[in-house]
Amino acid sequence: MLVTLEGLDGSGKTSAWEALREEFPEAVFTREPTSSWYGESVARSMGDDDANPLAELFLFTADHADHLSRVVRPALADGSLVVSDRYSDSRFAYQAASLADSYLAGGRDPLEYVREIHAAFSHPPDRTIYLDVDPETAAERAGATNKFERVAHLERVSENYERLIDAEPERFVRVDATQPLPDVIAAVTEHVAAFTDD
Ligand code: TYD
Repeated sequence: MLVTLEGLDGSGKTSAWEALREEFPEAVFTREPTSSWYGESVARSMGDDDANPLAELFLFTADHADHLSRVVRPALADGSLVVSDRYSDSRFAYQAASLADSYLAGGRDPLEYVREIHAAFSHPPDRTIYLDVDPETAAERAGATNKFERVAHLERVSENYERLIDAEPERFVRVDATQPLPDVIAAVTEHVAAFTDD
């Protein structure tokens, strides 16, 4: 089973993922962007305010393709529970928000376009936990360290996540990430335990 954690920056996602590591020691824990050289290229692009949003989408997607073949598919083939801190929904939400200011031919919807690219090769998550926090709180907590963390951008990202949840309500569970972190962690742990009992 593939479980992914998604949410805005500063939602407590990475802390929840670290707590899950202790609770589910047999599971495979992974994240996107990865630490491979593809992931390093992504980091380089994210640090560049002038990066081309379309080029950046393909860097993130290249990192995902490598992550799938090197980590995710082998772990799933072994029957492991795989828990990924960010995954394809991050591209659907974040890169669709970046592409909204850009130029896709023929009035294409950025979110649909990014989904279509993934549909050709990706492995969709079985369940996704969405750590729900408002864009203002997210930006404040994250300290706006990179261009994706600005409030206006996070508002668009948040709207995109809502579209994804509306489209697949059975895949997502929502956790209120404005609660104190220990409560967020407890809720996330309960959800993963419930998924694995099903
Ligand atoms: P990450 O290292 O997970 O940071 P955080 O711990 O704040 O979530 O992700 C770094 C940034 O990369 C984050 O602002 C979200 C962005 N991102 C994308 O825009 N697209 C993607 O596909 C992924 C995986 C991340």
